[in-house]
Formats: sequence, structure tokens, C-alpha cells
Amino acid sequence: MSALAIEALLHEGKAKKVFQTNRAGVVAVQFKDDATAFNGEKFSQLGGKGLLNWEISARLFEALERQGQPSHYLGCLEPGWMAVQELEIVPLEVVLRNRAAGSLCRQLPLAPETPLQPALLDLYYKDDALGDPLLTEARLELLGLVSAAERQELERQARQVNAGLRRLLEPLAIELVDFKLEFGRNQAGQLLLADEISPDTCRLWDCSAGANPEQRILDKDRFRQDLGGVVEAYGEVLKRVQGLGAMPRNYL
Ligand code: TMP
Repeated sequence: MSALAIEALLHEGKAKKVFQTNRAGVVAVQFKDDATAFNGEKFSQLGGKGLLNWEISARLFEALERQGQPSHYLGCLEPGWMAVQELEIVPLEVVLRNRAAGSLCRQLPLAPETPLQPALLDLYYKDDALGDPLLTEARLELLGLVSAAERQELERQARQVNAGLRRLLEPLAIELVDFKLEFGRNQAGQLLLADEISPDTCRLWDCSAGANPEQRILDKDRFRQDLGGVVEAYGEVLKRVQGLGAMPRNYL
């Protein structure tokens, strides 16, 4: 087979770019240093963030795969780049919460840190212009984005990812507070985990940090709340996640 060649830009999101390749069904994803929050209202460039999220995401996709949880991830290209299966992305943000934090505490009378068992699973409609609104059952049905069977499958996989990630992160002294997943359909119509799994898309708390609650934050809340040390915190996550195994595989 000839070497993989990266071709036209297909899509540019807030944190990644997606490129066509010369191989059918394979696209290349480049992780950007851009950091955004509050639906793009807050913006900054954080040197090194792209590389950190790329490697954290690659390692977590591989570790989940070893647990039997498939995803779009195929392997790494050069640093900052990965090859993934081309999917038709379902415009839903699947958010799982193991503890109350973030928007949940702004919208409901729940004290921050309240444990949520079973994990709360919410679906949001992925549309920046609309501000990614929270969906109700009726609105989800109205939009007809997924069949009933797909909805069930998506939730099953999301809960499996939650259990799998918690199992991986707990020995690394990282608590998975909440996170966002995206899914897409492959050519066979199967729903596959997509996007990324990184401190941009997860709330991660350092179980070994001291009593100061700000010190334990290892994720994009450092950027959202202007706490500083964003890249350093992501670097700490990577250092611990590197403990899960060898270098992520190359896609050939
Ligand atoms: P929230 O508390 O702001 O609703 O966020 C819940 C989780 O989802 C948190 O881990 C951050 C992640 N998230 C994203 O990855 N992208 C988004 O656009 C939003 C709003 C949240």
C-alpha cells in the first residue's frame, strides 16, 4: 500500500482540523493549540496543548480498545496527528457526570461535588450557533437524529466508556468528574466512539493534590476559570497516562 498522504481540509473545529487522505474511509485529525470556552467567547492559544491532547487521546483510545471498547481511532501519524475512520458524526454531545460540577450546578440546586450514582447522562444538540442546547426526550425524538436502537447503543457505549475510563484513571490518582463524548456512524452503519478524550473534554481531578480545590484541577476548567498552569496540568495528565503502556501505535 502506498504511504498515507494528507489531502484537502474537510472540516475545522475549535480544537481540531480534519483532512481527507488518499485512503478511502480514513481521515487525518490534527490537534490544535487553540483553547476556547463558553462556546468560543473565550479564546487563547496555548503552546503545546495540541500535542498533549493528541497523545493523551491516542493513549486513552488504545487503552479503551484493549478493554474491548472500539472507537474511530486507527493510529498515530506524525506528532499531533492521528488517523481515524471516516464517520458520519451524530450531532449530539453525550455528557456523563459522576459528580456535580460545571453547568449542572448552575442549572440545578445541587451542591458542587455531589456524587451522582448512577452517573447522570445528558444529551445536548451539537450546534455552536444554538449554544449546544440540552435536549429533552421529546426534543430528541422531534429532531430524529438517532433511532431508538441507536439511542440505546449510544448510551450503553457511553456508560461503558465511563466505567472503562474510571478503571484506567483511578490507579493514576485521577478522578473522572465528568466528560463529553461524540459518536458517528461508519459505512456499515455502526455507531463508533469518535472525537477525542482529553483534558479539553473531561473534568479531571488530582486525587493526590492538597486541600485547596483549585490545585486539584487538571483540565480545561483551569482555562475557563483563569487559574493558570493549563499546559502544565495537561502535561501532568499525560505523564500519568503514559503509565498505561507503551507509545501509541503508528498508523501505517
Ligand atoms: P458542562 O459542565 O459545561 O456542561 O461540561 C460537562 C463536561 O463536558 C465537561 O467535562 C466539559 C465537557 N464539555 C465539552 O467537552 N465541550 C463542551 O462544549 C462543553 C459545554 C462541555
